[in-house]
Amino acid sequence: MRTRKGLILAGGTGSRLYPITMGLSKQLMPIYDKPMIYYPLSVLMLAGIREIGIITTPEDQAQFRHLLGDGSQWGLSIAWLVQPRPEGLAQAYLVGEDFLDGAPSAMVLGDNIFFGHGLPELLARAGARDAGGTVFGYRVADPERYGVVAMDGAGRVTGIVEKPDRPPSNYAVTGLYFLDGTAPERARAVTPSARGELEITTLLESYLADGTLNVERMGRGFAWLDTGTHGSLLDAGNFVRTLQSRQGMQTGCPEEIAYDAGWIDRAALRARAEMFAKNAYGTYLAGLLDGS
Ligand code: G1P
Repeated sequence: MRTRKGLILAGGTGSRLYPITMGLSKQLMPIYDKPMIYYPLSVLMLAGIREIGIITTPEDQAQFRHLLGDGSQWGLSIAWLVQPRPEGLAQAYLVGEDFLDGAPSAMVLGDNIFFGHGLPELLARAGARDAGGTVFGYRVADPERYGVVAMDGAGRVTGIVEKPDRPPSNYAVTGLYFLDGTAPERARAVTPSARGELEITTLLESYLADGTLNVERMGRGFAWLDTGTHGSLLDAGNFVRTLQSRQGMQTGCPEEIAYDAGWIDRAALRARAEMFAKNAYGTYLAGLLDGS
């Protein structure tokens, strides 16, 4: 099996968060002490993925590059891709087609935040499937706002529907998709929906029709946080702050994941710790060097 590559979709106008996103991309906004995109980036890293294509609007790309560079500070290789207009999640596979070059992928939305015990194991299970696709179902109180999966008694997907008036279950499809190398080819067959977008749900339906769509449930021990409104954005920041100050551990810390995985050495970690020496993030990185 070819090495899985990552895609982060960080385009869009963020119009629901105006006026703050009029001057700054949503995915660059802070979730407590880190830019939002650090969290989905960390998820891909926890899945063992080191080659990552980041998709932004043409206008915002310079700021993202300034923040993340070529990824070498974390032992990653970042490719920069542009989505000229926000025309749907499935478009990420068209924008990313050359970068993926036939490889299987994990695509994550740049504003999706995941936290949970056992996340690396869940990701490893999805990553080990070399054919077909895997989505992650998460129980929410308001499934009609999302893509929703219908499942049979054995937990197999029987249907998937985008923002249904009458949801077939409470399981929303989160913004994390593990798909095989056929995703770009399938994305080319997707036609725009009523809202004028190339829907990820339509692309997933093509896997479902082939009987190769899997769903992994994220149980109640997981948090899948929304950042779509001013209130939920603040809630996500407070969640991260509460957790980090109680545990004394970071969530969504690319340096820690890279160091633990052996992708960067002590000198590289020290360089990052020194860069942030004035704050708690830097102190935390310095602590990793001492093994504390
Ligand atoms: C998109 C997808 C939806 C998915 C959601 C996850 O919705 O279309 O299937 O559940 O992301 O965040 P959108 O953000 O475009 O409304």
